[in-house]
Amino acid sequence: MGNSYLPPTIQAASGGCDPVALRAIFACFATGVTVVTANVGGSPVGMTVNSFSSTSLLPPLVLFCAANDSQTWPQIKSTGCFNVNILASDQGKLARRFASRDAPRFAGQTFFTPATGSPVLPGVLAYIDCVLCDTHPAGDHTIAVGQVVEAAKLRDGPPLVFFASTWGAHRPASRRRRLNWRGSHLARSLHLSDRRRVADVRVDDTGAVQTGGSAGKRAQMPIALL
Ligand SMILES: Cc1cc2nc3c(=O)[nH]c(=O)nc-3n(C[C@H](O)[C@H](O)[C@H](O)COP(=O)(O)O)c2cc1C
Repeated sequence: MGNSYLPPTIQAASGGCDPVALRAIFACFATGVTVVTANVGGSPVGMTVNSFSSTSLLPPLVLFCAANDSQTWPQIKSTGCFNVNILASDQGKLARRFASRDAPRFAGQTFFTPATGSPVLPGVLAYIDCVLCDTHPAGDHTIAVGQVVEAAKLRDGPPLVFFASTWGAHRPASRRRRLNWRGSHLARSLHLSDRRRVADVRVDDTGAVQTGGSAGKRAQMPIALL
């Protein structure tokens, strides 16, 4: 029988818990992928995060979990702000880059800055710009809660999905659902027709930040919440 019962791999109540086995079970949960960024005195920082969750509409809150051994999280925390970049299915390379300590994450990268000054990366589906309003210790992670101050959908298309340690794209179950990517009420309500010119920023290969370039990029008018 295909569904035969197997004894549980994890029984924390009986003492101890194998983190490797637990990680494999957590990996059964497919997530989207974000890059959480901040602006540390003019220097951009960011890290790949899949623990992001929308949390509350009234007031508008989101959260993500930061590993306590992360080098980037204390920098984000020090700014009191962060921006959640929601990645598209063609941005796996960007996700890998912002998860690696091997190379400077922003070298050669352009971005623009919303209300808090935390970078919005090119090509993302949407961004959610936040003020850090609360932190909660949670084992080997810290739960960071942000109040949304500005948000915009920038693009249609499938999100980047992370499942069982692999990257993929969301595939809607029906053609009708595929069409809804473009036509959903939610997309329309966030896709305001008004557009504004936003300041572009570029970090060159030496890590120097150049602002106010002429490569001004047009973005959807964000919804400003505060
Ligand atoms: C798909 C994916 C999701 C990740 N999600 C998180 C996360 O939710 N929280 C976190 O602290 N690190 C997460 N990481 C790890 C960080 O991106 C990064 O690798 C780690 O924080 C080390 O870099 P740092 O020391 O600069 O923070 C994730 C990595 C990958 C590849």
